[in-house]
Amino acid sequence: MSAQRDWEELRSRCEACRACALGEGRHKLVFGVGPQRTPVLFVGEGPGQQEDLQGEPFVGAAGKLLDEMLSIIDLGRHNCYIANIVKCRPPGNRDPKPEEQTACIGYLYEQIRLLEPKIIVCLGRISAAALIESNYRITRQHGQWVEKGGVWYTAIYHPSALLRDLSKRPETFLDLLSVRQKIRQVCPELYQNA
Ligand code: URA
Repeated sequence: MSAQRDWEELRSRCEACRACALGEGRHKLVFGVGPQRTPVLFVGEGPGQQEDLQGEPFVGAAGKLLDEMLSIIDLGRHNCYIANIVKCRPPGNRDPKPEEQTACIGYLYEQIRLLEPKIIVCLGRISAAALIESNYRITRQHGQWVEKGGVWYTAIYHPSALLRDLSKRPETFLDLLSVRQKIRQVCPELYQNA
C-alpha cells in the first residue's frame, strides 16, 4: 500500500474509533498535522476546546505560542509533525485518563511508524510519561535526551505551562536550542531543505 493510502486508512480507523468515551463527546477528531514523512515529531497531551472545534492540534492560545517556539528553531507545521497522546478532547480540559491514553496511543505508534521520526519532542509531563518514562519528572528532566530504538526523545514544558508561568521560558529557550542542535546532528537535511 502507498504511504498516502496507509495514512488515509489510519485516519478512517481513528474517525470510527469508539474505544473510549472521548469519541462520543468530541466535535472533531484531532488526528495530527504535518508532512507524511518527517524526522521531527512533537507530541502534546490532548485536544482543547479550539482544537476539538477545528480538528487541528494546537490552534488555541497554547498553539500560537507553540508556533512561535517552533519558529525560533526554524520549524513550522510544514516541516515537522504535531500530534497528541489522545485524539479526542477530554471534557473540561482535564488530563486524559490512563485508560483513555491506553485506548488511543496505538494510533500514535502507527503514526510514528509511518513518519519514521528521528527526534520526538514531548510537550509536557503527560506526553513524556507516556513516551519516555512513566514516572517522568518534567521539572527535573526537561531538556534531557534519551535514545530508544534509534529515536531521540526529549521533553520540554507544555506551551500552556509557559503561558501560566513566564519564569519557565528561559529554560525552555535553552531546551529549544538543544532540539535545534540535535536536528543538526541527526537529521541536518531538515534544515538544508528549508
Ligand atoms: N494542548 C495539547 O496538549 N494539545 C493540543 O492539541 C492543544 C492543547
